[in-house]
Amino acid sequence: MRSPRDFLKPLCVGAPDPITEVPFPPSRMIHFFDASNEKMRAKLPDIAAKADIVLGNLEDAVPVDRKVAAREGLVTVGKEIDLGGTQLWTRINALDSPWCIDDLTTLVGEIGDKLDVIMVPKVEGPWDIHYIDRLLAQLEAKAGVKKPILVHAILETAQGVAHVDEIAAASPRMQGMSFGPADLAASRRMKTTRVGGGHPGYLSMSDPTLDADGQIDASVARVTAQQDPWHYSIARMVDACTTNGCLPFYGPFGDIKDVAACEAQFRAAFLLGCVGAWSLHPVQIDIAKKVFSPPVDEVLFAKKVLEAIPDGKGVHMIDGKMQDDATWKQCKVMVDLATMLSE
Ligand code: GLV
Ligand code: MG
Repeated sequence: MRSPRDFLKPLCVGAPDPITEVPFPPSRMIHFFDASNEKMRAKLPDIAAKADIVLGNLEDAVPVDRKVAAREGLVTVGKEIDLGGTQLWTRINALDSPWCIDDLTTLVGEIGDKLDVIMVPKVEGPWDIHYIDRLLAQLEAKAGVKKPILVHAILETAQGVAHVDEIAAASPRMQGMSFGPADLAASRRMKTTRVGGGHPGYLSMSDPTLDADGQIDASVARVTAQQDPWHYSIARMVDACTTNGCLPFYGPFGDIKDVAACEAQFRAAFLLGCVGAWSLHPVQIDIAKKVFSPPVDEVLFAKKVLEAIPDGKGVHMIDGKMQDDATWKQCKVMVDLATMLSE
């Protein structure tokens, strides 16, 4: 299978308008599994039949005494399990952990030809990607791996956000980035205990009503609305990825039972430009599939615009709405995505 990078990079370098060009293979969800768990490995073919990407997690959530078992389990998956066309990724341990070097040497050596993408956690700057890039080149050469393994950074530290543009540009191996709200909250010293989503304390409030003496009338209720604490960082990540021809993803949503809030968080990311999100439970595969596939009514309208304006130029009224070169491009993004997902 061609990688997202194959599609995107040549089009983005010097191309006048990469946004209207051919995009990338289906990437609506990165489904995390625990490779140390034999039962979970046995279910993987069924999961892979539903998911666009499956990822063997070696980092956070894997206890220290299961790190080696998780790595070995992933080698077993790469060698023994047929995933059909579904991409196989891994999340390695952080670069400053005692497991990272063995994760890389073992996985590239044993299943380098099966791994599509290596997700690197807690990336702080382009130097982290340069290190991985060089090491992968050596390990691939040693193992005779023919297809370069791509790299995906998790944006989950304050430093990482500060360097997001340089990270996205750090290597032609950069496949994309995921937004990691849990580690980012800790890194920024945010006062939360959640994995993604909003917070009932992060509010905006309407102005007060004043009484005849100009004093605040506390008896009149004021409207409050939850704000999105992640908007700034996700928007920065989307810009950095798009500028450098790689793909932005929303990361984890921790409250598995709150499917409505998960859907809202995924949809906010989709509307801002993300192509997919992590799924931590099979129920989130379905949510991601629904959210990151463009809505049918919007696709039908977008098709109508493309058909009505074959050259994509000038100003036109369609169903009472003004359309021009810019809205034509928006419609093309939507129709291209729908076409790619239907293939
Ligand atoms: C993901 O790794 C996160 O920290 O949110
Ligand atoms: Mg994290």
